[in-house]
Amino acid sequence: MYNQNKHIMKEKIGILGSGIVGKVLAGGFLKHGYETMLGSRSAEKLQTIKQEVGSDLLTGSFSDTAKFADIIVLAVNGKAASEVLKLANPDNLDSKVIIDASNPIAEAPPVHGVLKFFTDLNESLMEKLQKEFPSAQFVKAFSCIGNAYMVNPDFPDGKPTMFISGNDKKAKEKVSEILDLFGFEVADMGFAEAARAIEPLCILWCIPGIKDNKWNHAFKLIYHK
Ligand SMILES: NC(=O)c1ccc[n+]([C@@H]2O[C@H](COP(=O)([O-])OP(=O)(O)OC[C@H]3O[C@@H](n4cnc5c(N)ncnc54)[C@H](OP(=O)(O)O)[C@@H]3O)[C@@H](O)[C@H]2O)c1
Repeated sequence: MYNQNKHIMKEKIGILGSGIVGKVLAGGFLKHGYETMLGSRSAEKLQTIKQEVGSDLLTGSFSDTAKFADIIVLAVNGKAASEVLKLANPDNLDSKVIIDASNPIAEAPPVHGVLKFFTDLNESLMEKLQKEFPSAQFVKAFSCIGNAYMVNPDFPDGKPTMFISGNDKKAKEKVSEILDLFGFEVADMGFAEAARAIEPLCILWCIPGIKDNKWNHAFKLIYHK
């Protein structure tokens, strides 16, 4: 899509995921003028989502969505992430940026508000996906904040921090531009391995929610002058 304000062609966004994160981010990308498609296995879900998110939203299968996209957003159940990317067809992922919002949450229930992961601290979900789909450029982002605050959140203490990581510098620059537009300060933690530290921030973020039903917070990294 041509953006008159910036005099640039905006990338086409393909969101893999029909849950709340997929819907919220789809709304955010449409609000910011991106041509956006959302993918699911379920035609029925897609019909409802189009009504909820807006008639401008394009919808399709995971494969249609990945093929359409210049930039892909992975917003699916962590356990299904690899399967969804296979359904999307690895050919459609080639050389594309994948913004990975997913978290490796296990099925086992939380203990005292602490979620369980199916990964361990020496290999993140994003690293596994990066190894399995090496021609895509994964960037971890949007994984450590609740969906209610993913698009231009209004916090009294200013912009929250979004921690990102990934192996490709240009991919991270593109994602940082999007995060800037979506109202975040970006903290680039480096390579894919840093997702080992970013993904568990989801556990920390969820504790006050699961324990005390408090979900209205975000992380902010502060610096000494
Ligand atoms: N909820 C939040 O506020 C929040 C915040 C930050 C990060 N996250 C992370 O974001 C991701 C998305 O969360 P969500 O709550 O929006 O959705 P979700 O319920 O975790 O995932 C829904 C998506 O997963 C797909 N899926 C589930 N099982 C599948 C399977 N066996 N095979 C293929 N696809 C399967 C569904 O496909 P269909 O569309 O075909 O049904 C759907 O698109 C999660 O990893 C979550 O941890 C969530």
